[in-house]
Amino acid sequence: MFETLSKAPGDKILALMGEYAADPRPTKIDLGVGVYKDEKGTTPIMSAVRKAEERILAAEKTKSYLGIAGNKGFGSAVLDLTLGDSVDRSRVRIAQAPGGTGSLWVLMQLINRARPGTTVWVSDPTWPNHNPIAENSGLAVATYPYFDPETRGVRFTEMLAALDQLGKDDVVLLHGCCHNPTGANLSAEQWDQVAASLARTGALPFIDLAYLGFGDGLEADAYGTRKVVSSVPEALVAFSGSKNFGLYRERIGAAILIARDAEQADITQSQLLNIIRGAYSQPPDHGAEIIRTILEDADLRTEWEAELNQMRTRMVHLREKLAETIRQRSNSEDFDFIADHRGMFSLLGLDSATVEHLKAANGVYMVGDSRINVAGIPEERVGDLADALLAANK
Ligand code: LMR
Repeated sequence: MFETLSKAPGDKILALMGEYAADPRPTKIDLGVGVYKDEKGTTPIMSAVRKAEERILAAEKTKSYLGIAGNKGFGSAVLDLTLGDSVDRSRVRIAQAPGGTGSLWVLMQLINRARPGTTVWVSDPTWPNHNPIAENSGLAVATYPYFDPETRGVRFTEMLAALDQLGKDDVVLLHGCCHNPTGANLSAEQWDQVAASLARTGALPFIDLAYLGFGDGLEADAYGTRKVVSSVPEALVAFSGSKNFGLYRERIGAAILIARDAEQADITQSQLLNIIRGAYSQPPDHGAEIIRTILEDADLRTEWEAELNQMRTRMVHLREKLAETIRQRSNSEDFDFIADHRGMFSLLGLDSATVEHLKAANGVYMVGDSRINVAGIPEERVGDLADALLAANK
């Protein structure tokens, strides 16, 4: 049977985690995988999560099934968090899924049931896992212009012109906030224009919301998603609780669908649940119950929001410190964009040889496209990192 197979390529982001772990140099710096790190370089369990887990363990009476859509309290809390009151809930359905990736997966499967083989338009560039998820679901992938390597901002005029050409069979995958890998994001006014374009063309917006709260705060980061879903008859949102709740390995996310009306929402949801049942039957609950417990309890929610805000402001601070240090040491504004970007990542614009050199010579690990995870910058070594980047970039 298996002799028909050849070796599949490894995942570049996850492979980097293994390479970094195997590097014996104590001076190594991990700017690779998108995992938050505190000032000690560890990825902590948030204290609100820890407390929620203690409560769950004490109160839990059964491990019986919850159903295909998962934890109901989690579902409504996540809808409040992501959509607020931007859209009439009678048109909205949600299904818990294993992580943001699982949510993307089941929603791509849903798209393929509705429009087999249709095209999903992704930003150029996008998170490298978007393409395989779409293609493995039977969909075609095409790109719209997004990142400008000159300005390190968004090529908005070109992006909008491309979106304006799309039609009602097309799907547009948008990063709700904190663009991965570039760190360059749409302003509120630009989101307004994107929403208007989607309303005009009838293309289906599909928002990947994996970093809510990591950019400018929970409300500001939800602006684009809420604007889009309130402007169009149909939309999809893939939510992740991996980063903002620090629940990475628990694999918790949610697939959200907004339909024309309640009747269409029920029909579409029945297909989504049918897809889930035929894939993994039901989602794992632990991460969902943690998020439900936190969001439904005023004290835990306040604690979580404060922790999330601390993580966010630390990343902004590290951005500013690295940009400032490079400016001082080089007398140039070439890396100032790092301070303007938001979220966990910035795309530095280095070629792959330079990225390899930084790894081999300096033990600085970043993804091959030169994406850095700013949370991985050790604050006391910003000077070393600035020197290494400047030397390699000569
Ligand atoms: C990343 O982009 O580094 C994260 O989303 C982790 C992953 O699964 O790729």
